[in-house]
Amino acid sequence: MNYSQLSKEELRQIYDLQKGEYDSLVAQGYSVDIARGKPCNEQLDISMPMLAAEGIENMPKSYRNYGMLDGIPEMKKIFADMLEVDPSQVILGGSSSLNLMYDTIQRALQFGVTGGKPWNSAHVKFLCPVPGYDRHFAICEHFGIEMISIPMNEEGPNMDLVEQLVANDDAIKGMWCVPKYSNPTGITYSDAVVERLANMKTKADDFRIFWDNAYVVHDLAEVSDHLANIMVLCDKAGHPNRVYQFASTSKVTLAGAGVSCIATGKDNVKDILSHMTMQTISYNKVWQYIHYLFLKDMDNVRAIMAKQREIIKPKFDTLITAFEDSFGSDSGIASWTNPNGGYFITLDVLDGCAKRVCELCKKAGLTLTAAGAPFPYGIDVNDRTLRIAPTFTSDSDLIVATRILTCCVKLACVEKLIDIKVNAN
Ligand SMILES: Cc1ncc(COP(=O)(O)O)c(C=O)c1O
Repeated sequence: MNYSQLSKEELRQIYDLQKGEYDSLVAQGYSVDIARGKPCNEQLDISMPMLAAEGIENMPKSYRNYGMLDGIPEMKKIFADMLEVDPSQVILGGSSSLNLMYDTIQRALQFGVTGGKPWNSAHVKFLCPVPGYDRHFAICEHFGIEMISIPMNEEGPNMDLVEQLVANDDAIKGMWCVPKYSNPTGITYSDAVVERLANMKTKADDFRIFWDNAYVVHDLAEVSDHLANIMVLCDKAGHPNRVYQFASTSKVTLAGAGVSCIATGKDNVKDILSHMTMQTISYNKVWQYIHYLFLKDMDNVRAIMAKQREIIKPKFDTLITAFEDSFGSDSGIASWTNPNGGYFITLDVLDGCAKRVCELCKKAGLTLTAAGAPFPYGIDVNDRTLRIAPTFTSDSDLIVATRILTCCVKLACVEKLIDIKVNAN
């Protein structure tokens, strides 16, 4: 059923039906939250044996002491294998890769990159593929960096636009990318997009790509999406320092207590360490070693992620099935992504309805990520996109969430369509 083809009377009938359903949902006094992409307790339980630190007696004595600013070799090797880079390109951080991203931008603004001028000696702009990760945009906003939205398509960011912008504006110093199982659309950049990012000409010679590979091993399907190795391609293209790549074990082991890393070109590594050494003598090497004991190698990381998939895949399926049952493929009021990995589903509703859906859901006890959050400055010009995070919620709460959400989407969109038809007359 395509809602926009229905008559005013038909729409009113649907409205009355949905309003009845909505009122009964409100009366239940539910409280469910699908706003943030957090692992659920069952996922976190998988890593609890890590705390026994089996084998800790073999830890090299020096790891207890100061030193090794870039982290312990055992854990650097695991990240190097995960990101398909050389261990010498990896620097370990604390528990949060977001922290490393923030620090990297702050350093560049104040000191420049690899001997260049401080970025903030002039106006700074970043390219922001949208919809994207709200916390990336929050960092830019915090530092006063102007954000330029780049529409995403099935293959990644619109590269014609990216190439044209970076070639002509030396104020564009950076670009955010979540290249695999992107937050929130779940798409993985195609080989052609990665190739173009590595090869494109930039007016700013200190331009950097912030390659946030947060979901590199977070498959929901049996077969992992292929992502081309941007660092190898950048080397080939003569831009060995173009990319800062980030990852962490936040959603492999414990979200509140993981290990993070930055992987990048040789000159960048040297540059970062020259500043980092003013900041700290070393990160937590004992925790890095405990992670190594638990994770062991990439085969074991994949086995851990397969266990996580067993827990969270059914949650994604619950939502997708509910969307299919409620809207079908041709409703004209809702379309959604069915990702092969990552933590999110993007639900696009009829233009002008996303905020209203959030408002209705809130009143019925369902918290969604604020409409607009996946866009720079929190502005979704189409008021269309909703980010759904199914992982944290219990299976029973998720069923409640789908009932509230599908009802509110229908209600908000039918309201809008009636409004359009009334105003047209
Ligand atoms: C794209 C992306 N990057 C980074 C993070 C946070 O990573 P970390 O826990 O390592 O700070 C998230 C968390 O949701 C994310 O979605």
